[in-house]
Amino acid sequence: MSRLAIIGGTGLSQLADLKIIKSDSLSTPYGAPSADFITGELSGKEVIFLARHGNPHSIAPHKINYCANIWGLKQLGVDNIIAVAAVGGITPEMIPAHIVIPDQIIDYSYGRKHTFFEGQGDPVTHIDFSYPYSQTLRARLIHAAKQAGVSISPIGTYGCTQGPRLETAAEIKRMEQDGCDLVGMTGMPEAALAKELAINYATVSVVANWAAGKTEGEITLSEIEQNLHKGMANAAELLKAFVGR
Ligand code: HPA
Repeated sequence: MSRLAIIGGTGLSQLADLKIIKSDSLSTPYGAPSADFITGELSGKEVIFLARHGNPHSIAPHKINYCANIWGLKQLGVDNIIAVAAVGGITPEMIPAHIVIPDQIIDYSYGRKHTFFEGQGDPVTHIDFSYPYSQTLRARLIHAAKQAGVSISPIGTYGCTQGPRLETAAEIKRMEQDGCDLVGMTGMPEAALAKELAINYATVSVVANWAAGKTEGEITLSEIEQNLHKGMANAAELLKAFVGR
C-alpha cells in the first residue's frame, strides 16, 4: 500500500484538518529529524505530517537536517512526499499568495549535507535528476487543484538559495536570467535526497512575496505573513482534494 507524507514549510507547521492518530519520535543514523512524525487522517486517508522547520517554527533553512527527515520518512514506509514550501515570486505570473507546482530546480545552496551516498565503502552512485519532481504526483496535484477550484501555475523553475537572508536584487536578476521563476531556501537537498531513496516527491510552492528588487522598498515580515495566510489556506484545500481522490 502506498503511504503519503506531507512536509509542511513556513506558514504550515500544522495541518489544521489532520485528525491526529499518533506521533513518532525517531532517531536516525543522521541525527534528529526536525520534529516528531505525526500520523493522522486527512480526507479519510492516512497521512504522515512533518514540520520541516520544527514545531514551533525554529530551524533555519540551512540548519534543517534534510537527511534525517527523509530517512525517517523512508523508515515509516513513505513512498510519496508532497512538500509545501514558501517562496518568493520572480517572473510576472508568480504573484504573492499564488500557488505553483514547479517542474524544475536550480540549486544555489551550499554546505548542506546533500547525499546519502558518501559512506566509506559505498559504491559511487549518480542518481538521474533530469526531472527532479515526480511527474505522476505533479499531474495528480494539478488535477486536485482543478477539483478544489484553486488557481495554480502548473510549471515553474524553483531556485534554491542558501538563506537565511533574502537575496539581493542582483542575485534575483541573475536567477531570472538563469530561468528561475521562484526562489526558496528549502527545496534542496530535500528533493534530491527523496530521489536517492526512491521516494516520489513533488512540491506545492506558495508565493509569500515578490522577490528582491521586484518591487519598491523592503520585503517585510508582515507582508510575507499576510500572503502566506491566504496562500496556505488554498494550499490546504488543494492538499485535502489531493489526498481525498
Ligand atoms: N527568497 C527566498 N526564500 C523565500 C522568499 C524569498 O524571497 N520568500 C519566501 N521564501
